[in-house]
Amino acid sequence: MERWAGKIAVVTGASSGIGLATVKDLVKAGVIVIGLARRVNKMKRLEDELQFRRGSFHSCECDISKLESIKAAFKWIEETFSKINILINNAGILKFSGILTEGNEEGLRELIEVNLLGNVYCTKEAYRLMRASYGEECHIININSILGHSIPSSLASLTYNLYPTSKHALKATTEVLKQELSNEKNIRISSISPGLVKTEIAHSAKHPCADRIMGSQTILHVEDVSRAILFVIGSPRHVTISELIITPTGQKY
Ligand SMILES: NC(=O)c1ccc[n+]([C@@H]2O[C@H](COP(=O)([O-])OP(=O)(O)OC[C@H]3O[C@@H](n4cnc5c(N)ncnc54)[C@H](OP(=O)(O)O)[C@@H]3O)[C@@H](O)[C@H]2O)c1
Repeated sequence: MERWAGKIAVVTGASSGIGLATVKDLVKAGVIVIGLARRVNKMKRLEDELQFRRGSFHSCECDISKLESIKAAFKWIEETFSKINILINNAGILKFSGILTEGNEEGLRELIEVNLLGNVYCTKEAYRLMRASYGEECHIININSILGHSIPSSLASLTYNLYPTSKHALKATTEVLKQELSNEKNIRISSISPGLVKTEIAHSAKHPCADRIMGSQTILHVEDVSRAILFVIGSPRHVTISELIITPTGQKY
């Protein structure tokens, strides 16, 4: 990671879970990190915690389900930092809004707006600022899920509704992006797909099985995923890890 010290990274969903752990690891590696999320208080606490480290952390309020909010955040980033080298598209939600045939339409729309469109709009804005780095090494990482690769029937009772759809669409989107940017030799694109990780995601969704899901013995810790992210970014420049699937040992799907 040494070559990334002093470079600029944007991490969406920096206020909790995988995003928060990734911020800490990147700052430890000397990276200047900007976190985007809605809960600014949580990010401000992180800013305080990460003072006087090798890198630095800067929080920016942003609701990635709203295009104006994304544009305002990246305008601030442009004015303050001029360029971006790393984008970690991590923000994502589960939405317990019922099964597809009975579900709440608003909840389903929000899920697609955050997990898919928010990711695409952040990538568009970040790409503009990656070009402003004039050929410096850049990396876009999309945090997907094993549910973006298959939909195990054993999980049907958990009513994930459009969550697997959003992640399958993200997988296709990452592929299209790779093809679009295939001539940009300085920008690598990777997808990281974790299995179950102990975070707030199920509780934030008010999922009735949240305690059972997050209480599983077969579960990853956020640091397992953040370490995988740094491994992918830190791989030699001529190596692109396109897809990294990381599951807890013993997970059956
Ligand atoms: N946990 C798992 O088992 C698991 C497994 C595979 C993949 N993933 C993926 O990992 C990523 C991170 O999830 P996590 O498990 O770490 O969940 P988490 O602890 O709930 O964190 C989700 C993050 O996304 C942010 N976020 C949600 N909606 C947002 C919005 N509209 N605008 C901006 N930020 C928003 C949240 O910040 P605010 O609420 O402050 O806005 C929070 O920082 C997601 O993409 C998820 O799909 C998770």
